[in-house]
Amino acid sequence: MLSREDNELLTRVGPGTPAGELFRRFWHPVTTSARLGGPDGPQLRVRVLGENLIVFRDTNGDVGVLQAFCPHRRANLFWGRNEEGGLRCAYHGWKFDVSGQCIDMPTEPPASNYKEKLKAIGYPAVDKGGFIWAYLGPREQMPPLPAYEWMDLPDTHRVNTSMLNECNYLQGLEGDVDTAHVSYLHLYFDPEKGPQPPQFHENYRQYVIQDKSPKLTVKQTPYGFLYGGRRTLEDGSYYWRLTPWVAPSASQLPTTEKYGHAKINVPIDDYNHMPFSVMWSREGALGSNSQSDYRRKKASAPVVPFKLNTGHVIDHTREASNLDNDFLLDRSKQTSKFVGVGGGTGAEDRCVTESMGPILDRSEEHLGVSDIAIVAMRRALLRMIRDLRNGVEPALPHNSEAFHVRGMDIISQHADFEQLLAEHADYLLLSSAGARQE
Ligand code: FES
Ligand SMILES: [Fe+2]
Repeated sequence: MLSREDNELLTRVGPGTPAGELFRRFWHPVTTSARLGGPDGPQLRVRVLGENLIVFRDTNGDVGVLQAFCPHRRANLFWGRNEEGGLRCAYHGWKFDVSGQCIDMPTEPPASNYKEKLKAIGYPAVDKGGFIWAYLGPREQMPPLPAYEWMDLPDTHRVNTSMLNECNYLQGLEGDVDTAHVSYLHLYFDPEKGPQPPQFHENYRQYVIQDKSPKLTVKQTPYGFLYGGRRTLEDGSYYWRLTPWVAPSASQLPTTEKYGHAKINVPIDDYNHMPFSVMWSREGALGSNSQSDYRRKKASAPVVPFKLNTGHVIDHTREASNLDNDFLLDRSKQTSKFVGVGGGTGAEDRCVTESMGPILDRSEEHLGVSDIAIVAMRRALLRMIRDLRNGVEPALPHNSEAFHVRGMDIISQHADFEQLLAEHADYLLLSSAGARQE
């Protein structure tokens, strides 16, 4: 349970809000590199932390992220022409480079130097690791990019996707640190027949059925916390799923050695968020399997104008199963799957998180011991939000190596969390700056 006041503090992310200011101290993906396309390609409308933005790639391949409305008379730069080193507004032809600087003002007298003094509001932007990243915070606090394990991989080794979620970011994020739900929401009654996610242990579906009440441990780290869920198997060994939660809104999902899977939940506004995912191979090019093929198809789906529940239009696909059609629920499918919605695990997650309402009122919930990671995450976020409100800047964004951490999905004889960590310290990158105990 959370007081209404704390719930408001955690969930409101627009400009000037305490949580919004905390998020603005970090770099965030705003779209995928593939979706933006090549130089002088079509610009995209995105919305991040309650701001409407235009993302474009100029003639040189540099990326720009500008506030959507032209500083002249506020036409949306979505209508502009992206050509010859900048974005030219459709209304009167004023043109802006990737930094937002006005570089042409054809309707003003030729002798005027007004253009040199005019700058559209633009944010630092970088194309890396398959995402376009933007930093929306104060320039004097701008940190380096986070050093995620997958950031320097070539395009062949990973696939980057995003999936619109029509609810507050915290509802999605809480699902990411809730291992107990995989024994129900994502349950296949016959694990042999259900698709096996290749990045998890090959008997993952059987293991989460064998013990539906995982024992949880949370270890505080400089990046947030490492969270372990232990399930006891029939032969007395343990199935462990270890998930680093990386403040403010990312997680490295538990996977086997061959693949990695990371998720970053970026708030669109108070009532929507965009989880960005990257799945990668640690053994060279990412080949063909059910997950990578599915993700590649998602990654190349054409963008369409979509009107959010807040009335703003973004260029992004909406999932075929969504709130308006009860996520294509088919109860006849409940003989094989627990819920029976259409569209896989993403739809299963969204059907519960989005239908809670755009912002869940947490003053009415009743938490159990299986929710300790959720409680730890809220506390950590609230502490960072309050600290910043009191003038204490977060240290994490400036410690880019802290983001270099891994999740793990493994069978072990260790019942003890610390012993498990000690045995797998190298794999988990615990010796890096990322996982030193605070
Ligand atoms: S509104 Fe953009 S040039 Fe006039
Ligand atoms: Fe889930």
